[in-house]
Amino acid sequence: MFSRSARLYDAIYASVRDYRRDAAELDRLIQERKPGARTLLDVACGTGAHLEHLSGYELEGLDLDPEMLAVARERLPNVPFHEADMADFDLGKHFDADVCMSSGIGYVRTEERLRSTIASMTRHLEPGGVLVVEPWLSPDVWLDRHVGAVFVDEPKLKIARMNIARREGNVSIVEFEYLVGTPDGIERFTERHELGLFTVEQYLEAFRAASLEADHDPEGPMGRGLYIATA
Ligand SMILES: C[S@@+](CC[C@H](N)C(=O)[O-])C[C@H]1O[C@@H](n2cnc3c(N)ncnc32)[C@H](O)[C@@H]1O
Repeated sequence: MFSRSARLYDAIYASVRDYRRDAAELDRLIQERKPGARTLLDVACGTGAHLEHLSGYELEGLDLDPEMLAVARERLPNVPFHEADMADFDLGKHFDADVCMSSGIGYVRTEERLRSTIASMTRHLEPGGVLVVEPWLSPDVWLDRHVGAVFVDEPKLKIARMNIARREGNVSIVEFEYLVGTPDGIERFTERHELGLFTVEQYLEAFRAASLEADHDPEGPMGRGLYIATA
């Protein structure tokens, strides 16, 4: 996953996402459905970039990747972070809201693990708690052999990250090639990511299996959609 590039993640995604705007929208969606909500768990939280802008809540984060969590802990030293698999975790507590953003859920790869992830997140909700999930792409909008590229141009950090995404059955394979320049030298490496391509119906069914009825916004913050459910 992102272990090798964790220290580059914020520089790359700051050019792709508006975390402050996402957080304001999450806050609006959560408070609309559970007024006064004050505890929040970010599942697959990565470097904690959403949490940074959700400061009105008592926050916790969870991720599988220790390198991503190391960046999150440096960013938010007072926030508890848990190293765990989102498909099967037990923190022994409940939250007013669980969020899972930036398509992190796609990394579970299989429908069975999609269902156990939604179930695990639901088990951590207070009654009336809100679950917000930003999905990965669905198979019908997948563009095979699509060429992706991101460029970072800071005074002491230059990054070119490219990939040609392909599909094996209902799993998308994204092999990123990085070229990273700093005053210490120029480094080149690759990173392989595998994400499940689930249909809208598979997502909605995973919510239903956890006894949640989800609303589906087909647009969401990045055009990939958004699911919002209340326990
Ligand atoms: C695209 S990043 C999103 C990070 C963050 N939510 C954001 O919006 O920037 C996906 C994250 O999912 C995490 N992840 C992948 N598989 C996971 C799993 N099984 N359990 C928990 N986290 C996982 C990765 O380590 C990575 O931090």
